[in-house]
Order: sequence, then C-alpha cells, then structure tokens
Amino acid sequence: MKVLSVVGARPQFVKLGPVAQEFARSRADDGGSPGRPGEPIDHVIVHTGQHYDPWLSDVFFTDLGIPAPDVHLGVGSGSHGVQTGAMLAALDAVLDEHRPDWVLVYGDTNSTLAAAVSAVKMHLPIAHLEAGLRSFNRRMPEEHNRVLTDHAADLLLAPTEVAMAHLATEGLAGRSVLVGDVMTDVCHLVRDTVACRPVELPGGVDPASPYLLATIHRPDNTDTEQRLRAVVAALRSLPVPVVLLAHPRLVAKADAFGIALTGGNLHQARPLPYPQMVRAVMAAAGVVTDSGGLQKEAFLLRTPCTTIRPETEWVETLEDEWNILDNDVSRLPDIAVRAAPTGAPRTPYGDGHAAAAVRTALLTWGR
Ligand code: UD1
Repeated sequence: MKVLSVVGARPQFVKLGPVAQEFARSRADDGGSPGRPGEPIDHVIVHTGQHYDPWLSDVFFTDLGIPAPDVHLGVGSGSHGVQTGAMLAALDAVLDEHRPDWVLVYGDTNSTLAAAVSAVKMHLPIAHLEAGLRSFNRRMPEEHNRVLTDHAADLLLAPTEVAMAHLATEGLAGRSVLVGDVMTDVCHLVRDTVACRPVELPGGVDPASPYLLATIHRPDNTDTEQRLRAVVAALRSLPVPVVLLAHPRLVAKADAFGIALTGGNLHQARPLPYPQMVRAVMAAAGVVTDSGGLQKEAFLLRTPCTTIRPETEWVETLEDEWNILDNDVSRLPDIAVRAAPTGAPRTPYGDGHAAAAVRTALLTWGR
C-alpha cells in the first residue's frame, strides 16, 4: 500500500514522527497479503514548506528520525488564501505522479486543508489524522481547516472519545475510527529518552530554580497591539522567571508594535527542538501557552498549564485543573505557578500506540 503524507508546519512534524517510524517498521516486518494488516506501507512524504526556518522544521526531522521529505513544495509564508492556494496549485502534480492509496493529512493547518482539497478533487482517498477536534471558535483559522478537512475526508482517525462524539454529531460516525493520539506516542518515547539528561534552558534562565515555560503565537493574542501588550505585561509580572520560546509570528508582531519581549521576569528565547522542549516542560513549575500541542504535552508530562485562550479543543486537560483557561490573563500571576493536582493520572489520550492503530486502520479501510 502507498500512503502519501502531507505536512508543512511544526506540530505536523511531531505527529509525522511516530507515523513514519511505524510505516518504516511495516516494511521491516513480514508482509501480509495485499490489503491486510501486516502489508508493508510505501511512504511518500511531502513537505509544503509552510514552515521553513530550520528550528521550526529541519530539527524535527533530525531529532524524530523522520526521513527527508521526498517532495518539498517550498511554498513559504503568505496570507491564508495566498499560502493555501500556492499549496493547492503545487500539490495536483505531486498527487497525480504518485497516485497513492491514501493521502494522509495531519491536524488543522493550511497545509492540511490544501492537501485535503487537492486530494478530494482528484478522487484520491483521504485519511485525516487528529480528526474531530473542535474549538467551536470560528475566529480560529484552524477551526475552518479542521471542519472542512473532516468533511472532505474518507477516513477520520480520531484521537479521543470527545472527538468521536463531535464527528458523530456532524453525521460522520460511519467513517470515524478511534486510534488514540500519536502525540502521546512520541511524547512518552522522548520523555523516557531525555529523563536523565540535564535541562537546557535558553534565554539565560537557571534551570535549578523554579521557572515557567511560555509560548504565544495565536493571531488572537499576537495581531493587535493592545492585546499583545496586555499578554506581555502579564508574563513580565509572573513570580518566577518565564522563558518565552518566541515563534516568528510573535517576534514579527512585537517588533511592529515596538513591544519588547523582555522585562520583569520575562526572558525571550528561540523555539526549542522537541527533545529539549520535552525535558524543559518536565522540569518546569508550569507552562503558559496558547498552543494546542503544548497544552497536551504539559498534561502528558504532568506539568500544570495555564492557557491564554477562551476555550480549548483538548478539553480532557481541563479536568482536575491540570490545565486552566485564563483568556483575560487576570488570574495569571496567581495561578501560573501552582501545585500539580494529586490523584491517579488519567489517560484520555491513549496508551502510546496510536501510530500502530493508524497503520491498521489504513490497511483495513484501504481500497
Ligand atoms: C501555523 C498554523 C497553526 C500552528 C502553527 C504552529 C495555520 C493557519 N496555522 O501558524 O495552526 O499552531 O503553525 O507553529 O496553518 N514564519 C517564519 N518562519 C517560518 C514560518 C513562518 O518566520 O518558518 C513567520 C512568517 O512571518 C509567517 C508567520 O510566521 O507569516 C506565520 O506563519 P504561518 O505558517 O502562516 O502560521 P503560524 O502562525 O506559524
């Protein structure tokens, strides 16, 4: 079976990691008969080029053992329409050349939507990994991307029971499969590898004393001056040093508004490669973020998280207050550093074997 993965942005490389390894293992395993679980998967990786800075892209391929992309579209940045349109224009020829049994798309970025639209127009079967997530916030570009991709796809690979329920509500239960969360696979694997390593913190912060790890990149937080000033002021006022792993969008907007990403307890740093990020989250007193992936990584690594958004797709993290929403940042100074909840850890994101379930689902549902 031939599967063509389309990825383009940082969180998609993290999801691709365990999937690419699982597909590579399938080639090493004894192959079954065609179309049956056990059949080797021939994997083609297409990188749209949505993220192109080495620390947002190349380091993930290297650290997660992902083979270099077979095709790189080199699309780069642009408005949503320009970026998505450029990907669409470039993908047709690639999909036509490879004619895969599945086009596998990941998450909710513009690269996800472009690949889904290109594939559906060419009558190629689409599988959507991380299907069924909903924020119900239509201001988020990711929300449009998710909904449109789910409705275009032939196979919906859902990470959680809640995602399965959303798909059923939208009439999509008949093509949905609960596979678990591939980010749990990679997060647990890397956690076990880095647990004994020293914590390396950028931004000159001492990892031996309590610190917070922060990321901010959602347009709702970065793209108006008043909002960004309020968020940065809140981060400066936190009771322990804050390592702000600054995404290029944040840096560009802060520069344009003349806002320094330092001052008070705030320390600006570059985004971290995945293993260093996992290690830094494990040792942090807390995480402050608007990233979906990081909320869940904090939960998986048992570090309290405060999310600067009005809602989250990863609602399971809110139980027991592992994650607290504080969109107006009014409570941030009081809650960003807080004791971890006690009680038996729950595992709503699966057992770390989601990639194997993805492989089985693709083989079982393949035509
Ligand atoms: C994208 C995804 C978002 C995801 C995030 C992870 C969409 C709509 N959004 O947001 O869901 O959470 O990736 O990081 O797909 N830039 C660089 N270097 C790069 C890439 C981008 O400097 O390698 C700058 C450019 O100025 C660009 C801006 O960052 O315009 C935004 O990049 P873009 O890919 O449009 O969206 P993200 O904010 O990264």
